[in-house]
Amino acid sequence: MHLAALLFASALSVGTLALDNGVMRTPPMGWLAWERFRCDINCENDPKNCISENLFIDMADRLAEDGWRELGYVYVNIDDCWSSMERDAKGRLQADPKRFPGGIHKLARYMHDRGLKLGIYGDMGTHTCGGYPGTTLDKIQIDAQTFADWEVDMFKFDGCYSNATEQEKGYPLMSKALNATGRPIGYSCSWPAYQGGLPPKVNYTLLGQICNLWRNYGDIQDSWDSVLNIVDWFFENQDVLIPAAGPGRWNDPDMLVVGDFGLSMDQSRSQMALWAIMAAPLFMSNDLRTISSGARTILQNKMAISINQDPMGIQGRRIVKEKTGIEVFWRPLLKNASALVFFSRRNDMPYRYQTNLGKLNYTFGSYKIFDVFTDKTMTLKDTTDFVVSVNPTGVVMWYVSAPAKRNLRQFYRGSEFQQSAYEDQENAIPRVFL
Ligand code: GLA
Repeated sequence: MHLAALLFASALSVGTLALDNGVMRTPPMGWLAWERFRCDINCENDPKNCISENLFIDMADRLAEDGWRELGYVYVNIDDCWSSMERDAKGRLQADPKRFPGGIHKLARYMHDRGLKLGIYGDMGTHTCGGYPGTTLDKIQIDAQTFADWEVDMFKFDGCYSNATEQEKGYPLMSKALNATGRPIGYSCSWPAYQGGLPPKVNYTLLGQICNLWRNYGDIQDSWDSVLNIVDWFFENQDVLIPAAGPGRWNDPDMLVVGDFGLSMDQSRSQMALWAIMAAPLFMSNDLRTISSGARTILQNKMAISINQDPMGIQGRRIVKEKTGIEVFWRPLLKNASALVFFSRRNDMPYRYQTNLGKLNYTFGSYKIFDVFTDKTMTLKDTTDFVVSVNPTGVVMWYVSAPAKRNLRQFYRGSEFQQSAYEDQENAIPRVFL
C-alpha cells in the first residue's frame, strides 16, 4: 500500500477505537439523582422524592432558574430505577410508564429547551445494581441507538451482574456503539470500580480512549467518613491516576454530597476544594429545591469552579503530608497559575500552619494570592513565611497567580524598593474573579 494510504488507513482504525466525541473537554458538571434519591419508586406516598420525570423536571427548573446553569451545572442525570421491568416488543428499554408518562425523549427536550443536558443510566450485565433490566453484550447496539434516538447527552454504564471478561468486551463495544450513532454522548464507565481501580487489572490508557469519565472506586455516601475514605484512596494512588486524566477523560471520585445531611460547612468546603484539585466531575446529588444558602454558596463558588474547570485539565496532587495532620494539595493551572489547598485532618481546633511558597516548590518571585472562600487577596514572595489557620476537617484554598514578571530595577535598587517593584506589577487576574 502507498505510505499515505497506509497512514490514512491506520488513522481510521485508531479513529474507530478512540473516543472522539468532542465532549467534556473540562470535567462535566450537573446533577445526578443517585446518592440523594436512590431507588425511591414510591410515588404514591412520596411523590416529591420518588424517581419520576417530576423529580428531574424540578431539578432542571432549579438549575435553570437559580444560577446553576450559568456556572456550568448543565447535566441532569437519571440513575438507576428509571426503566420498566420489561423491554418493549422491539427489544428496546423503556421508561416506567407510571413514573415517566412523557417518556425520556420528551424529558430530553425539556432539558434542551432550557440549555441543559440529559444523562441516563444503564448496566453492562444482566441487571442493573437495583435489579432493573441490564444491557448484555447482545443488547449494546440497540440500547446505544435508543439513547441516541431519545437525544440523550450522557450515559453512565454501571457494571453489576457481569464478570471481568464480559466487561472487557462490553465497555469498548458500547463506546463504539455510541460513536456509531453519530450523536455526541458523554460516556461514563464504571468499569474500573468493578476491577479494583488499579493496574494491571485496569488499563487507564484504554479507558481514556473509550470513555469520557470513569468511576475508579466505591460509592460515596452522605458522611464525612465516606468523603475522607474516597479522598484517601485517590491521593494514595495519585501517581497512577493523574496521568489518566486530561481534556475529555476524567477520573470520577463520585458525586458531591454538599447540601445533604452528613457534612458540616467546613467539610463541604473540603469536598468542593478537593474535587476541584482532582479535576473531578462535579455532579451534585442533593435537593436543589431545599438546599441551604450556605451549601449553595459553596457549590456556586466561582473561583473553585474555575479551578475545577481549568482548560489544561491537569489533575492535581498531594504535595505535603505533615505528621500534624495538615496536608497540602496543588494543581497547575493555565497561564502559570496554580491552586493550593491546605487541609486539616485534625479534630481539635483550628491549626495554625506555617510555611512559605518556596517550601511548596514555588520558584523565585512574588505571587498574588486569592483566597477562594474568603475572597481576600494578598501578595507573597516565595521566601516569605505565612500562617494559614485551617479548621478541623476543613480547608483553606488559594488561587495563586503567576509570579509578577521580574522587574530589572530590583537588581539595581535598594532592598526596601524590591517589594514595591513587585507590587507595581499588574498581575494576571482571571476575569471571572473580578
Ligand atoms: C452502583 C453505582 C452507583 C449507583 C447504583 C445504582 O452502586 O456505583 O453509583 O448507580 O449502582 O443502583
